[in-house]
Amino acid sequence: MIELRAVSKRFNQGRPNECRALADIDLRLERGGVTVFTGPSGSGKTTLLTLIGCLARPTSGRIVLDGQLLSNLPERFLTEVRRHTFGFVFQQFNLIRGLTVLENVMLPAYPLGRPHRALTAGARALLERFDLEPKADSKVEWLSGGEAQRTALARALINDPAVLVADEPTANLDSRLSREVLGLLVFPGGVVAAAESGRQPSLRLSAGAAEIRAAAGPRAADRRRSDGANPVFSGPETRCHHLVLRLAV
Ligand SMILES: Nc1ncnc2c1ncn2[C@@H]1O[C@H](COP(=O)(O)OP(=O)(O)O)[C@@H](O)[C@H]1O
Ligand SMILES: [Mg+2]
Repeated sequence: MIELRAVSKRFNQGRPNECRALADIDLRLERGGVTVFTGPSGSGKTTLLTLIGCLARPTSGRIVLDGQLLSNLPERFLTEVRRHTFGFVFQQFNLIRGLTVLENVMLPAYPLGRPHRALTAGARALLERFDLEPKADSKVEWLSGGEAQRTALARALINDPAVLVADEPTANLDSRLSREVLGLLVFPGGVVAAAESGRQPSLRLSAGAAEIRAAAGPRAADRRRSDGANPVFSGPETRCHHLVLRLAV
């Protein structure tokens, strides 16, 4: 359902500090699959997720969602696609302080104009599912790490997205909470997640997830970084590691 064709992303193009974060990526992500990108810090995981989730545009290449070419869509259409297709769990959760758990969960739904009563009921059902009902009216700044993480997950699911995009969803959690969160990620749509290599339990443990590793391609040296040996997600390597398995639920 999501296809990346020869996608590259460069930051600060043409300047001395140019950074080639992604090089010639070809990927096909199917509905119902779980895909995990693993690689060291700086290898391009977050960049790849922002492109897949239409939060940013590639420098070159094409992104196709359900047969529709997204690369040329005007910004307002891209925003629409993003709202209807993706739910996001950001690495730092990005919860809005001063608002309650319930309000945070409902927030991404406001632009869609759903009736308030149905929206509240949907949000409360998610809180129940994630064991957060007792915290519904608590301000998010008082939550524990695991509660904040589950609130972020509930918020990501409020618009019933086809695809859940999670950036290092367990990076800030201890191993017990990580297992709990990974269990919650068993999700009927598609899941795309990033994980730093070797730092946390792989999603493969909990589900039939495909793993795509950053490979140290020849292009890594082009990145003009002092640590030029840093791996980068790049074309041929990504292609040969690519595999999406159906989730057995
Ligand atoms: N907005 C940006 N401007 C300049 N460089 C960036 C920007 N975002 C990311 N980068 C660079 O792109 C590379 C990949 O970053 P990122 O995707 O965040 O890696 P990861 O998530 O795997 O740690 C890094 O070298 C980072 O410094
Ligand atoms: Mg990252």
